[in-house]
Amino acid sequence: MNHTFHQSLVFIIIIIIFFPLCTLAQNNGNITVGTSLTATENSSPWLSPSGDFAFGFQQLGDNNDLFQLSIWFNRIPDRTIVWYPRGTNPVPRGSTLQLDAAGLLLRDPRGRLLWNTNGLVDEVAYAFMNNTGNFVLLHSNSTWLWESFRNPSDTILPTQTIEIDGMLVSRKTQTNFSEGRFYARMLGDGNFVFNTRSVPSNTGFDDEYYSSFTSGVNASSSGYQVLFNDRGSISIRRRNGQQTILTPRSIPPASDNYHRATLDFDGVFTQYYHPRNFSGNPGWIPASFWPENICFNINGDTGSGACGYNSVCRLENQRPVCQCPQGYSLADPNNAYGDCRPRFVPTCADGEIRSDLYELLEISDTDWPKNDYELIEPSTVDNCTAACLNDCFCAAVIFRNNSCWKKKLPLSNGRVDATLGLAAFLKFRRGDIPPLTPNVPNPSNHTRDQRTLILVISALLGSSVFVNFILIGVTCLGFFLIYSKKIPSQDQVHSTNLRCFTYKELVQATNGFKEELGRGAFGIVYKGDVPNGSKAIVAVKKLDRVAQDTEKEFRTEALRDRERLERFLMVGIWCIQEDSSLRPTMRKASQMLEGIVEVAVPPCPSPFSLTPT
Ligand SMILES: *[C@@H]1O[C@H](CO)[C@@H](O)[C@H](O)[C@H]1NC(C)=O
Ligand SMILES: *[C@@H]1O[C@H](CO)[C@@H](O)[C@H](O)[C@H]1NC(C)=O
Ligand SMILES: *[C@@H]1O[C@H](CO)[C@@H](O)[C@H](O)[C@H]1NC(C)=O
Ligand SMILES: *[C@@H]1O[C@H](CO)[C@@H](O)[C@H](O)[C@H]1NC(C)=O
Ligand SMILES: *[C@@H]1O[C@H](CO)[C@@H](O)[C@H](O)[C@H]1NC(C)=O
Ligand SMILES: *[C@@H]1O[C@H](CO)[C@@H](O)[C@H](O)[C@H]1NC(C)=O
Ligand SMILES: *[C@@H]1O[C@H](CO)[C@@H](O)[C@H](O)[C@H]1NC(C)=O
Ligand SMILES: *[C@@H]1O[C@H](CO)[C@@H](O)[C@H](O)[C@H]1NC(C)=O
Repeated sequence: MNHTFHQSLVFIIIIIIFFPLCTLAQNNGNITVGTSLTATENSSPWLSPSGDFAFGFQQLGDNNDLFQLSIWFNRIPDRTIVWYPRGTNPVPRGSTLQLDAAGLLLRDPRGRLLWNTNGLVDEVAYAFMNNTGNFVLLHSNSTWLWESFRNPSDTILPTQTIEIDGMLVSRKTQTNFSEGRFYARMLGDGNFVFNTRSVPSNTGFDDEYYSSFTSGVNASSSGYQVLFNDRGSISIRRRNGQQTILTPRSIPPASDNYHRATLDFDGVFTQYYHPRNFSGNPGWIPASFWPENICFNINGDTGSGACGYNSVCRLENQRPVCQCPQGYSLADPNNAYGDCRPRFVPTCADGEIRSDLYELLEISDTDWPKNDYELIEPSTVDNCTAACLNDCFCAAVIFRNNSCWKKKLPLSNGRVDATLGLAAFLKFRRGDIPPLTPNVPNPSNHTRDQRTLILVISALLGSSVFVNFILIGVTCLGFFLIYSKKIPSQDQVHSTNLRCFTYKELVQATNGFKEELGRGAFGIVYKGDVPNGSKAIVAVKKLDRVAQDTEKEFRTEALRDRERLERFLMVGIWCIQEDSSLRPTMRKASQMLEGIVEVAVPPCPSPFSLTPT
């Protein structure tokens, strides 16, 4: 034992002595031709001299064989990706990136070329990972041959520009780096515009949903460049030397904050900042959004709108949330922003119109303003619905102010609009109207024995910092939850801001700090498969009071951010698995929290931990 101790000590001393030297030696940002990286969890990326940015393979989750070639913020827990070769998918373990005279070459483990920096005819001498986040390939005479800043994906950084014909393309989803539907482009006429493109192979775009309106009265005053300056302000530079500033208000200074602006996967171009000096995980704070209401701004005659076909968009915290209407479900369950599939498609195949076979379901304040095929005016509500029931083409009608619009599938540009006083009616087969299905898959639908298990992650903090707390909290969770049999005393509860308990600990501990649970704590109801049902119920009954408080917290604090909360919850449940091999590492937990990695529905803690003893 002593021996091992000494060995460790020597090892630690060696690390202390040599680590700074090592990092200095490989950290001037220069990468010479001939260097390569391999996609494994141990490969160290190419760092910028300050260490703020890294270029290399970022693993997308532990025990995951997928890696994304990317540039990321390397000093923040989120390790937010700011560049990747546009439209590429993650690559398998063992893929390589080589810097040679022809530029960067990305190859799969079998040596097949997946991506490269095109057209640099054997002139590259070295590369440089700049502190700005720009990765540059240089000629031996120091001429810049290729820059990541000139080949952006969905994000721009301070000091980066978008020139005429340059563009950003959104990701497909937060975790899927394939090209999404949204484009931000600097046009030759001087406007910075956003469009959708429903069919990726199209050369044209759907209508604009945002424009900077900087084409100018004549060519001499037109815009020519989007500039994200080093103070964190985004503007359009005009040929006459003027600038039109897009960032509406002053942004916390770049000296204290990281900045980025991303065309997010939901189509909103968002400027964010993140403190450089922080504790816990403050996350990215949104500073500006373009456009202001994407649900309404996407209003072209082609395309599905901000959400997929048949879906309905509403704005929450300036971000679009898409939801399938009652009776419709997601075509791709992994893409909540995608198309919704109807349970029933009206058809005229039967030849016979049998209005008694159908009924209409009213959906309040929802509008699909496009794709009308018939207008009945004047009309009453009853005449409107009757007209739809008697028309085998009709899938829905919108009634407003004595007018009745008949709609065919697919419905597009769906949005919640409470200002118009309209009524929407969707057609169903009689008796077939299903309950509203949430877009977030509900784990309880798939379990055989549904019981309510209460998992309490107790916070003795004020409730106003609820979400922040979870961010910090779950990060600590991994450390905290190295499963301890010890029952926390009230003192311990006070001395730490966070406790996360296994079910057993919780049940045992409840008597000890029931008061606390009632006051400042929050609990979470998890519907899942409880292996030892009866015992779980006993426990749940004991905790009824907590359950009620839980409900309250949900409503007041977290409802706005439910999806995120559910993710946190599931991560929390993964963290308290009795089987330590199931618990995620800290890194994976934080990636799951950020949404980089899908969070699978966790298994219940084992029956032993459920037994109230
Ligand atoms: C990087 O390498 C180039 C070429 O060898 C050299 O000119 C330059 O000074 C180096 N930069 C740094 C920061 O070491
Ligand atoms: C790094 O970026 C700064 C700011 O854009 C620039 O002045 C500098 O020349 C860059 N250095 C290299 C080696 O690319
Ligand atoms: C550097 O080399 C490139 C390619 O040979 C050439 O086009 C460029 O003019 C050179 N730049 C300087 C400053 O010599
Ligand atoms: C991302 O989406 C594309 C297009 O739908 C799909 O082909 C691909 O498999 C997805 N990639 C991942 C990693 O899920
Ligand atoms: C363009 O505008 C500038 C000043 O805004 C004016 O001096 C110039 O004559 C205009 N050119 C044309 C062709 O109208
Ligand atoms: C970071 O924050 C800590 C605590 O607020 C402070 O003591 C420290 O001086 C800060 N460091 C920098 C570089 O601002
Ligand atoms: C509505 O329907 C009723 C009965 O079917 C009919 O008498 C009436 O004229 C209709 N009104 C309109 C405005 O079409
Ligand atoms: C309703 O329709 C009538 C006649 O078409 C029109 O005069 C009136 O302005 C409309 N009211 C609203 C609120 O749109």
